[in-house]
Amino acid sequence: MCGITAGISTSDVTGTLLEGLKRLEYRGYDSAGLALLNDKGEILRKRSTGRVATLEEEVSKDKELRGNVGIAHTRWATHGKPTENNAHPHICNETVGLVHNGIIENHESLRASQEKLGYRFTSNTDTEVIVHQVHHNLELYDDLFSALQQTVKELEGAYSLAVISNLEPGNLVVARQGSPLVIGLCEGENYIASDVSALISKTRNFIFLEEGDVARITVDDVDIVDVNGNYVERKVHQSKLSSDSVELGEYRHYMLKEIYEQPTAVSDTLEGRLSGNHLLAATFGHEADEIFNTINSVQIIACGTSYHAGLVAKYWLEGLAGVAASVEVASEFRYRSHVVPENCLVITISQSGETADTLAALKYAKEIGFKHSLCICNVAESSLTRESDMVLLTHAGPEIGVASTKAFTTQLIALMQVVIALGQRNALTNELEERIVRELRSLPVKISEALELDAKITKIAEKFANKKHALFLGRGTHYPIAMEGALKLKEISYIHAEAYPAGELKHGPLALIDEEVPVIAVAPNNELLEKLKSNIQEVRARGGELIVFADPGTGCKQEDGLTVIEVAPVDDIIAPIIFTIPLQLLAYRVALIKGTDVDKPRNLAKSVTVE
Ligand code: M6R
Repeated sequence: MCGITAGISTSDVTGTLLEGLKRLEYRGYDSAGLALLNDKGEILRKRSTGRVATLEEEVSKDKELRGNVGIAHTRWATHGKPTENNAHPHICNETVGLVHNGIIENHESLRASQEKLGYRFTSNTDTEVIVHQVHHNLELYDDLFSALQQTVKELEGAYSLAVISNLEPGNLVVARQGSPLVIGLCEGENYIASDVSALISKTRNFIFLEEGDVARITVDDVDIVDVNGNYVERKVHQSKLSSDSVELGEYRHYMLKEIYEQPTAVSDTLEGRLSGNHLLAATFGHEADEIFNTINSVQIIACGTSYHAGLVAKYWLEGLAGVAASVEVASEFRYRSHVVPENCLVITISQSGETADTLAALKYAKEIGFKHSLCICNVAESSLTRESDMVLLTHAGPEIGVASTKAFTTQLIALMQVVIALGQRNALTNELEERIVRELRSLPVKISEALELDAKITKIAEKFANKKHALFLGRGTHYPIAMEGALKLKEISYIHAEAYPAGELKHGPLALIDEEVPVIAVAPNNELLEKLKSNIQEVRARGGELIVFADPGTGCKQEDGLTVIEVAPVDDIIAPIIFTIPLQLLAYRVALIKGTDVDKPRNLAKSVTVE
């Protein structure tokens, strides 16, 4: 989703802004632009559709395009097509330049009143009304900072904004409501960006703006007012993110790198949380003990892959811990009435911690009476961690590929830690806790073994080259794993893929089966095996081409139309984590054959910061 960088310095900021945009590319975008205030007091702008590299090339050709104050942007189209005219920055009357991430819901009414005032529009975006409104308010108020404070009062929706004006060359003003924005503090210069990764090569010192904050940034100072217009001090955080962790290294794609990082990511997510065969009580922070003692049910809220992790956790919470659990996608949860159970813990799950729907659903949950919240998140310095009572971090390291991989497996690890903590107070026996912890500890090695299937999977990926549809089947905890496999395949190879609980086949989807629809089944060796085998036979009898990822103990044998890929035997408790790995590899290998943009699939964004 849109990315912002901006800065103010005693020297040219162009390189830093472009470098920051490149580091934000993973968020997803379809056009890019920047505007600089030069020493003649002119706002100069360059915009282009496509990649930041194209913008960079055009900027390098224009020697005039330099400045000590500037704003830059990658746009993920919402209102208006991805054209150069719609790309940011937007400029009003050669006086005010602005970039925006988010959606302005009252843009139509603002546009109507601005047209009456004589403002002319050059784009189809919702954003352009903001730049005109700032310009209008700059005529009414004394300065840019006041003009932006007034403007945000008139906006409905979500935004992070960075604004410059040639009337105030010494100021960069910014605001945040519902979309992320961080200020990176440097010596003799300051920058802002959508996230820390964009500025990590410049500084480790960051201020995270809070909801409703508006700030004025100069080369050596930052003034912030809160939502009520009062001057406030915001804490300076030291980021621990390392700049190498966002480099591609020897890998062809971030997705592949991130798949192969899973043994380390998982062991990092376990580190410091286990002692002997037990989970350490301190894992969730000092307030958790008191809260967990009161909890008797759980409401999980998340989107996409994170939602699938939540679905697995429901089976675990009810089956292992004896705690009732509901799971709902955030965009549904936030728009319906609920019967709020007493003593129910809201758990949000998010890799980025910036997903607009998940953030809004958490806010709504608190409003309607859910008293306690825990977030499972991969970004320590994110909005979600700041909005939650308790935080359990997944230590997956930065995930750049749009298709979530190591974030998912580490979310499952973190969720299993929740299962143990709540289970200790409910149905989990000591023996079962010991078994779970033993299995968790074995995961890095077992995931490495599962990664060795890559060569076999590369061969079977050929079968998908000309296919338009695929069906994924699983039962129990492996039904959400089948859903995750289908999501991976569809988002990076553009093959239409659906997942079904295998028992549902005969209630409809069986009608789809023929030799053109490959069926992928996950077959761990558990109590549902015989049922799953019958479902597999139902597919075979209808001429469907089957690929089964199976524990060797299942006795599934390769035959005509049935490819079996053996996955090393594992305890049923951790099987969903292990069976995820071949499905991620399958999606990756199929996407390679299809030649898609694996890390940045069309139409998708990494961090979905709009509704
Ligand atoms: O950052 P989040 O975990 O909140 O993101 C949620 C989804 O947007 C995300 O998982 C999405 O479904 C991925 N592209 C899936 O690979």
